[in-house]
Amino acid sequence: MPPSKYDKYHKRSPEELHDFIKKLAFQALETAEERLPLYLEVGVKNAKNILDVGCGAGFVSRDLANLTKGYVLGVDGSQHLLQVAQQTLKNNKHAMILQADAHHLPIKNNSFEIVTCNLLLMWADNPQKVVSEMARVTKPGGRVLASLEPDYGGKIHYPENSYVDPLFAGEAIRKKGGDPHIGRKLRALFTHAGLTTKIGIGNNRIWTCQEDKNYYSHSRDFYIKVMRDAGLSQKHIDQWEYEYLRSLDEGTQLNFFPQFYAIGNKPKT
Ligand SMILES: C[S@@+](CC[C@H](N)C(=O)[O-])C[C@H]1O[C@@H](n2cnc3c(N)ncnc32)[C@H](O)[C@@H]1O
Repeated sequence: MPPSKYDKYHKRSPEELHDFIKKLAFQALETAEERLPLYLEVGVKNAKNILDVGCGAGFVSRDLANLTKGYVLGVDGSQHLLQVAQQTLKNNKHAMILQADAHHLPIKNNSFEIVTCNLLLMWADNPQKVVSEMARVTKPGGRVLASLEPDYGGKIHYPENSYVDPLFAGEAIRKKGGDPHIGRKLRALFTHAGLTTKIGIGNNRIWTCQEDKNYYSHSRDFYIKVMRDAGLSQKHIDQWEYEYLRSLDEGTQLNFFPQFYAIGNKPKT
């Protein structure tokens, strides 16, 4: 069970929220090259309406709104993140937001041409119920897209670093109440929801050391806080950072973990 100080939806404590929103903004930029081709593949451009479930602070809904001629409704359970989403989407006339739980969408059957989510299923209490809800509100002939869902079982981090998994990857996600292996479950989740399903891995490009370093520099406060909270001494943290940055500067570090996607077609009848 995750600690009770975590929000039911975004699974962060109030103190972590500011950094979390910063992370979501950066993450949306960094993953655009994986998500945008999927949006085009499912037909976002010409869709009349799109539902973005678990929209968070709205950074991904804004990408959808910028691509489509139709309108986008972003739904999230967290009132706090929706307040940020309102700001994020304020210049997009055709984007709206709604507070709701993804397990019980207050939306009629067969309403949306495209229903998307990004990094939601790994945090959902019951991902099968969420995907079934997404399928229920999709129009017959419409599409359900889960654009990024990681699988940390496929994570590669070299040179070996014993802190990565417990503090920043698989084990850390499990402790917060997430499912670090959601990626491999997407096919089953979509198929059980009655969708004709295609599965793939969106991030087949390995980042350069410079990109990894940029990501670290941007998220450094988060990394340091996690290590402090885990009880590491300043000496240990300095040593960890020195070694982490050294392999990036030498051009020898390699990081990869698969980000799965699923596209589900809802049968016409
Ligand atoms: C990692 S964030 C991703 C946000 C956004 N999709 C993005 O990629 O920037 C996961 C989001 O899912 C929302 N969420 C998790 N469980 C939910 C549920 N049961 N109902 C509604 N929203 C939920 C959280 O509040 C959070 O905003």
